[in-house]
Amino acid sequence: MRAGKAVEYDRFGGAEELHFVEQVRPTPGPDEVVIEVVAAALNHMDEYVRRGDFADEVPIAFPARQGSCFAGIVRARGSAVRSLSVGQAVLGHDPRHAAHASYVTVPVGAVVPKPESVPWEVAGALYLAGTTGYTIVQSLRLGPDDTVVISAAAGGVGHIEAQLARLAGALVIGIAGEDNQDYLRSIGAKAVLHGEGLEQRIRDAAQGRPVTAFIDNYAGYEDLAEALGVPRQRFVPSAKRREVELRFYNAPGDDPEVRIVLGDLVELIATWGLRVLISGFYAFDQLPEAIAELDQRHSRGKVLVGMHTSAPASSYLGQRTRFFKPAA
Ligand SMILES: NC(=O)c1ccc[n+]([C@@H]2O[C@H](COP(=O)([O-])OP(=O)(O)OC[C@H]3O[C@@H](n4cnc5c(N)ncnc54)[C@H](OP(=O)(O)O)[C@@H]3O)[C@@H](O)[C@H]2O)c1
Repeated sequence: MRAGKAVEYDRFGGAEELHFVEQVRPTPGPDEVVIEVVAAALNHMDEYVRRGDFADEVPIAFPARQGSCFAGIVRARGSAVRSLSVGQAVLGHDPRHAAHASYVTVPVGAVVPKPESVPWEVAGALYLAGTTGYTIVQSLRLGPDDTVVISAAAGGVGHIEAQLARLAGALVIGIAGEDNQDYLRSIGAKAVLHGEGLEQRIRDAAQGRPVTAFIDNYAGYEDLAEALGVPRQRFVPSAKRREVELRFYNAPGDDPEVRIVLGDLVELIATWGLRVLISGFYAFDQLPEAIAELDQRHSRGKVLVGMHTSAPASSYLGQRTRFFKPAA
């Protein structure tokens, strides 16, 4: 049986608390599947949870693992599982948050089939950012008469929201830095730079149309939304984003809404309605670099790690590598 590795931490803290542990391929329970992970996304939530910021909302037992979103190959299925076969490519989420690993064991309802046309890294990036962005955009019931401003519009969640809002027919004004202006224009959004003078830039981009909605992923734009005349009930603050993200982060493995939303998103990607952008795709061993990229908060799309599915088992055994030296 092939061995692998997983990341763990033994107490709340930063990325320096993470270390690799070896992992023997698990055996599934009756309603579970064991999946060999090919790609797994990073989310800010991983860090908040690891730091203990969500100790009330997300109970942690040590040693703890991390990682919610993944894509991979079914390697074993429980005795009651009929809907998936061994060798099938799938994507989804791990309700136990242990997807930064070679193998993950999840309830069969936590995954959906991955179409061949959807690349591994896109499939592995999809779950938390996709369900969060989809739910927030849907809650606004946007249409062609809407002009919506989105902060962090090129980020992991924002770039999905921007495209879904465009699909709904809205005029999208995306806030981003210099490097992401071209990208936002390429998805049909109007791009505006954050920083001094932002309100006027948004007014110019709106060309006389009223701003009817505002999705604030980045946080801190409430006063700006008010100054722009955005109706209070159509301002989505960062706190709301947090609530939606937590809801999907904590979703059980048999959540019907998750399956519907994931199914819609996969369909949109497979039919070119949505392009999930990959900001960085790192080898699993380079998780610290991947975390550092995400921490800079200048990603364009999602940051992921890819597991070495072809590496010999011996290369993993006995490893317990500290990522960073603990502070002296
Ligand atoms: N409230 C919560 O609990 C919660 C949960 C998850 C995430 N978050 C926060 O939500 C934000 C977005 O997360 P994400 O994963 O979607 O994005 P992300 O992948 O971290 O991307 C960050 C984006 O923020 C943009 N940005 C940087 N400075 C900005 C500013 N002053 N105004 C507007 N945008 C700015 C960057 O654009 P440029 O590189 O072009 O500047 C980049 O595209 C993060 O800041 C994260 O900390 C909050």
